[in-house]
Amino acid sequence: MIKEPLLEIKDLSVSIKKADGNIPIIKKVNIVIPRGTIVGLVGESGSGKSMTARTVNGILPPKAVVTGGSVIWHGKDEKDKDLTSLKERELRKLCGRGVSMVFQEPMTSLNPLMRVGDQVSEVLLIHGLVKNRAEARKKVVAMFDEVGITEPDLRYNAYPHQLSGGMRQRVMIAMAVICEPELLIADEPTTALDVTIEAQILKIIRNMCTARNMSALFITHNMDAVAKLCDEVYVMYMGRVVERAPVKEIFDSPAHPYTRGLLSSIPAIGNSPEYLNTIPGNIPEIKKETKGCDFCLRCSDDIRKCFFESPKEVMTGEGHYASCHILEDKLK
Ligand SMILES: Nc1ncnc2c1ncn2[C@@H]1O[C@H](COP(=O)(O)OP(=O)(O)OP(=O)(O)O)[C@@H](O)[C@H]1O
Ligand SMILES: [Mg+2]
Repeated sequence: MIKEPLLEIKDLSVSIKKADGNIPIIKKVNIVIPRGTIVGLVGESGSGKSMTARTVNGILPPKAVVTGGSVIWHGKDEKDKDLTSLKERELRKLCGRGVSMVFQEPMTSLNPLMRVGDQVSEVLLIHGLVKNRAEARKKVVAMFDEVGITEPDLRYNAYPHQLSGGMRQRVMIAMAVICEPELLIADEPTTALDVTIEAQILKIIRNMCTARNMSALFITHNMDAVAKLCDEVYVMYMGRVVERAPVKEIFDSPAHPYTRGLLSSIPAIGNSPEYLNTIPGNIPEIKKETKGCDFCLRCSDDIRKCFFESPKEVMTGEGHYASCHILEDKLK
């Protein structure tokens, strides 16, 4: 069954303005987020995951500019809108209602001087979704309960420093979801948490999406979290999507050498540290001009063409695509 798209990132390119020219950091990225679907965006540090997400709700850093493509929103109220061409006021109105974001470190997103419950109530009041503070409080306490905050009525009055990291992240999720957004963008929401709390947070996100038919873009380095949470996965490398597939496909038959590297870097229980695989080298510095495949310097399979020609996307399975010359040649 083909699901209706909620958000379509089409051929998106973003550059950083430098005195001696623009540095491309997002290069013709295409991502479709269908309704009610959790899409994972994975890749090493610096691959452009956060910048892609920030383009959606218009919070790119001042030096970053969209140089091409579009981000088409098919929300309930605003149909077929290109978010990259909206004025800041229009975008602000949409974000928070239509699109919400959760970041890695809740301590930096919460106001340390304000009770956590009041911070979430504020969101409802700003968007005019409740008549008064008493009604807001009632809704917030119910939401705190839904995200697994114990004694929600009591916790409403807590300050951020009085809560654990996991509890603070639950507050952030409550704040992101309280206005019933259609899309939740979670940028590494569990990276700072231990594995038990991480598992609980992943479950909360999954339950929230299922209960509300909400979509999510889940950004992470952690392939294990992807396996637990996502329906579909996009793998980014140096500002490009190099592979995309349903989650089972990525784990059962990863096609791109970079994805295979990411998966083989996951430590397995029972293996001694000598057997821990890594992808050789680091992400090279992004230069103005790039010829050939961005991954060729780190790839063990490269052929001559990889150094001179950008690979095209080829289909390797149902809904499964990868950009790699070796695959292209194999499938000919
Ligand atoms: N504020 C900024 N100003 C200039 N360049 C930036 C800024 N933030 C990120 N970049 C650059 O943009 C590119 C993409 O960065 P981005 O933050 O999207 O990566 P990421 O995949 O989210 O990495 P991480 O996993 O570390 O969060 C990188 O080359 C990075 O150096
Ligand atoms: Mg990031």
